[in-house]
Amino acid sequence: MTSTAALGSVTARREARRETASYSSKSVSSQVDPVVAVGVARLYQLDCVEGMRLLLPDDSVSVVVTSPPYNIGVKYTSYQDARPRQEYLDWMEQVAKEIKRVLEPEGSFFLNVGNRPDDPWIAWDVANRLRQSFVLQNVISWVKSIAVEKEDVGDCPRIAGDVAVGHYKPISSSRFINDCHEFIYQFTKSGRVSVDRLGVGVPYQDKSNIGRWKAATKDRRCRGNTWFIPYSTIHSRARQRPHPSTFPVKLPRMCVMLHGLSRTGLVLDPFAGIGTTATACLQLGVPSIGFEIDADYVGWARDRLTEEYGKAYPGSATGQMSDAGEEAQPVSSSKSEHNIVKVED
Ligand SMILES: C[S@@+](CC[C@H](N)C(=O)[O-])C[C@H]1O[C@@H](n2cnc3c(N)ncnc32)[C@H](O)[C@@H]1O
Repeated sequence: MTSTAALGSVTARREARRETASYSSKSVSSQVDPVVAVGVARLYQLDCVEGMRLLLPDDSVSVVVTSPPYNIGVKYTSYQDARPRQEYLDWMEQVAKEIKRVLEPEGSFFLNVGNRPDDPWIAWDVANRLRQSFVLQNVISWVKSIAVEKEDVGDCPRIAGDVAVGHYKPISSSRFINDCHEFIYQFTKSGRVSVDRLGVGVPYQDKSNIGRWKAATKDRRCRGNTWFIPYSTIHSRARQRPHPSTFPVKLPRMCVMLHGLSRTGLVLDPFAGIGTTATACLQLGVPSIGFEIDADYVGWARDRLTEEYGKAYPGSATGQMSDAGEEAQPVSSSKSEHNIVKVED
């Protein structure tokens, strides 16, 4: 129930939180105006450590979902993604310490990191550095592309032949194979935080399993730690995904749902990019806050969230703020030069 049905079930929650965030006065300081304020989503053009220190009190965030720069030379507009490894890891540790301060005791910190084929330790180096601050509770493989051969699926009637699905960046190499997955590390403070396994569960293939075990009371089982979340097909990166390193909306959505929607207050993405986590939270009716240093990415995020809000609440104003923090007219999707269609779901 991670897509349509799940979104249906959160409608009431979303309605209840539709207007400006009731959390803002309680848990987010008003020292700085957000550049983006759409429904219950707030984005600030700030360095994330500075932003957390300025705006977020201790224990004020339920879930962090984020993907930092991986230090692999990605061409971001502002950030230089190639630093000496130790300096990069020191920075990750500094960010993690601030996340630990703002995270609730029972909160979850989902960190998405990937590697380069010629440097396959990066993600693990980051995870290892964070063990000084957090307990690594779950390791999820985010699978972007997979090939399944008919001969390997037994008599599964739904798979009629060999299939290969999803997208990845093909590499030309005699040494390395294409890199089709990344990691999502769930860090917690204790390692003992309950998760909503069935919140991102899947139906049993073999229905005779229902009722076979005490816990199997309905047609839903834990999906495990391999999540197939493909990028959607796009035709123009500049128009449809104007950022070199995003994750699909479904990824933060599943992380929040695994943590447990009913016990999620504020969600934080310290490396917000073009607002993918905020978009997922808007869909789920959960308040979110994000930090991003690049003005262009924040601008795209604003248009994207405005459009998403328009889809969720047709005909309503967004509560969108201008750069000066004043109320502005909703950005019209047809007029916006940065307008993007929702590309991932
Ligand atoms: C991997 S991308 C995140 C993309 C995001 N998950 C999305 O789907 O749009 C990392 C982002 O971190 C931003 N960034 C780099 N240093 C930062 C900092 N100190 N504070 C906040 N954001 C930063 C980069 O500009 C980049 O957009």
